[in-house]
Amino acid sequence: MVKQRSFGLGSFPTTRLRRNRADDFSRRLVSENNLTTNDLIWPIFIMDGENKRESVPSMPGVERLSIDQMIVSVGEAADLGIHAISIFPNIDPVLKTSGAEEAFNPENLLCRAVRALKKYHPNVGIICDVALDPFNSDGHDGLLKDGVILNDETIKVLCKQSIVQAQAGCDIIAPSDMMDGRVGAIRKALDEKGFESVRIMSYAAKYASAFYGPFRDAVGSGGVLNGNKKTYQMDPANTDEALRETALDIAEGADMVMVKPGLPYLDVVSRVKEIFSVPTFVYQVSGEYAMLKAAIENGWLDNDKVILESLIAFKRAGADGIFTYLAPEAAKLINSQ
Ligand code: PBG
Repeated sequence: MVKQRSFGLGSFPTTRLRRNRADDFSRRLVSENNLTTNDLIWPIFIMDGENKRESVPSMPGVERLSIDQMIVSVGEAADLGIHAISIFPNIDPVLKTSGAEEAFNPENLLCRAVRALKKYHPNVGIICDVALDPFNSDGHDGLLKDGVILNDETIKVLCKQSIVQAQAGCDIIAPSDMMDGRVGAIRKALDEKGFESVRIMSYAAKYASAFYGPFRDAVGSGGVLNGNKKTYQMDPANTDEALRETALDIAEGADMVMVKPGLPYLDVVSRVKEIFSVPTFVYQVSGEYAMLKAAIENGWLDNDKVILESLIAFKRAGADGIFTYLAPEAAKLINSQ
């Protein structure tokens, strides 16, 4: 219960909260949170080939793009005011191995995409995931041996992956693998190679969520996934543990932290922001997108209204920025408000 303080929150009938809500202008004046295009990070899926766009059935409206098409789409997004993107590669299955060697090939699809982006859109901030799942024949974020995910061995590969991404021009390295100690090791590896100004945004509190299903379709890691990710991603029942994860990542050098998924975990976003006061991001994941779009396609929810309401919820919880597949649509809506 909120206690009524001595400075007085007032009482009815002197106080009528509906007064401020009575007109559009005054609702705008008293609004506590605002969503702008500065808050948006657009995750995109890329694939090999030329002039290719392939739709992802479980994510209506989302496409995998060949690098040339990605350049076009990122240009359009930049014109809408989207200044940051994250890129996820759909790797040719023949390149996937149990050692995920393709992850640190400087000529891999992701690195080629980053170089092309930096050439054509040098002002767009690029965030790259660091995890082995797009490159690993087991579909896991770490190296799997005899059914066990190897923490420290995985970190060595993640460091090599981070270096090739930084060399390609990535601005923010985003470890999404949830291995213990990876942020500190990646920071050190980057610094040793002269990349001390490349930022790290850690997926600090990443849950073992069923909401990632459509993403795994999009990058082609779902079909190959052997088992589940519960030995490294967090139990959806926990929040104190999310704070410990976040504290460790900050101590290890994370410049920004992230909570994922989004809407089902707003309490975690709120606690992380409140307690650490560091730049805090949230990922409205593929399954959240799929849920909204499925209901919208059925005519059960209003597209524009539900998009903006879902995004302002993140701002209210304290997020500084939002990864969302809705970014281009949301930017158009914001620009027309
Ligand atoms: C890979 C990764 C995943 C997502 C982002 N990075 C999937 C997973 O951990 O299985 C999910 C994003 C989404 O669902 O939109 N480590």
